[in-house]
Amino acid sequence: MKYTLITGASSGIGKAFAEHYAQKQHNLVLVARSKNKLEQMKSALEQQYNVRVLTLINDLSVPNIANEIYNNLMAMNIEIDTLINSAGIATNGSVNDVSYYNQHNEIMLNVVSLFDLTKLFLKPMLKNNTGTIINVASTSAYHPIPTMAVYAATKSFVLSFSEALAAECQKTNVQIFAISPGATDTNFFSNGGVSYGNLRTPEHVVDVTMSALKKQKISKIDGFNNYFTSMILPRILTRSRMVKMVYNIMNKQD
Ligand SMILES: NC(=O)c1ccc[n+]([C@@H]2O[C@H](COP(=O)([O-])OP(=O)(O)OC[C@H]3O[C@@H](n4cnc5c(N)ncnc54)[C@H](OP(=O)(O)O)[C@@H]3O)[C@@H](O)[C@H]2O)c1
Repeated sequence: MKYTLITGASSGIGKAFAEHYAQKQHNLVLVARSKNKLEQMKSALEQQYNVRVLTLINDLSVPNIANEIYNNLMAMNIEIDTLINSAGIATNGSVNDVSYYNQHNEIMLNVVSLFDLTKLFLKPMLKNNTGTIINVASTSAYHPIPTMAVYAATKSFVLSFSEALAAECQKTNVQIFAISPGATDTNFFSNGGVSYGNLRTPEHVVDVTMSALKKQKISKIDGFNNYFTSMILPRILTRSRMVKMVYNIMNKQD
C-alpha cells in the first residue's frame, strides 16, 4: 500500500503538508517526537479524510534512525511514494557560544537524517520509476548567516543536494524538489529560529510547493520579498558585503 512519509509532521509546515496530502487521499506516515500531537492528528485526519495514518514517534537526530524507520516500513510492506523532509531546528548565537550538543543535533537532524531518508527511499522510487521527494530548505540556504551559521550551512546542504539530485533524476519519473520558506508562522521561532519581515503561513508554503512541482521546477523560494532578499541581493552585493549586512540585521534582532 502506498504512503506519503512526512517528517516534522507534528507542527508547522510538516503539519500543513500532512493536511494537504490527506485531503488528496494519500495514506500517511507521520514522524516526529511529540506522541500526543501525532495521535491527535491521526484520529482527526483518519476521520475527516478516510485515509490511513501511521505515526512514528522518533527523534531523527539519533544516528541510524532513518535505517530503522526504512526497515520497519519495508517489513510492513509500506511503499513510500512521496517523502517530505520537513523536520528541522535552528540554533541561535555565535558558533563559539552555542553548545556543541545543540549544534551537533541540528546537523544530525537537518542534514544527516534528511540525507539518509532521501538515500534510502530514492532507490525503490527509481526502481519503480515513480515518486516525489520534497525537501524543506530555507531562504537561509542562499547566503551565510552569522549567529545562525550552522543553521544556514545545513540549509545550503539541503538546497544544493536536492537540486543536484533533481538533475540526476531528470530523465526518470522521480521528482526531487526543494522549497525554501522565509519567515513562516510556526513554532520554529520558539525553537531557536529568528524572525524578520512579514510572516508567511505554512499553507502558503504548501501551495507554492504544489504549484512549482506541477511546473517541474527543482526548487522555489516562497514569496516575492523572500525571493528578492535571497536571490537578487546576493547577486548585487559581494559575499563579504552580504555577510556583514546580514550580521548587522541579526544583531538588531536582539
Ligand atoms: N518557520 C520558518 O520561518 C522557517 C523558515 C525557513 C525554513 N523553515 C524550515 O521548515 C521546516 C519545518 O519547520 P517549521 O517552521 O514547521 O517549525 P516547527 O513548527 O517548529 O516544526 C518543526 C518540526 O520538526 C520536528 N522535529 C524537531 N526536532 C525533531 C527531532 N529531533 N526529531 C524528529 N522531529 C523533530 C518537530 O516535531 P517534534 O517537536 O514533535 O519532534 C516539528 O514537527 C524546518 O526544516 C525549518 O528549518 C522554517
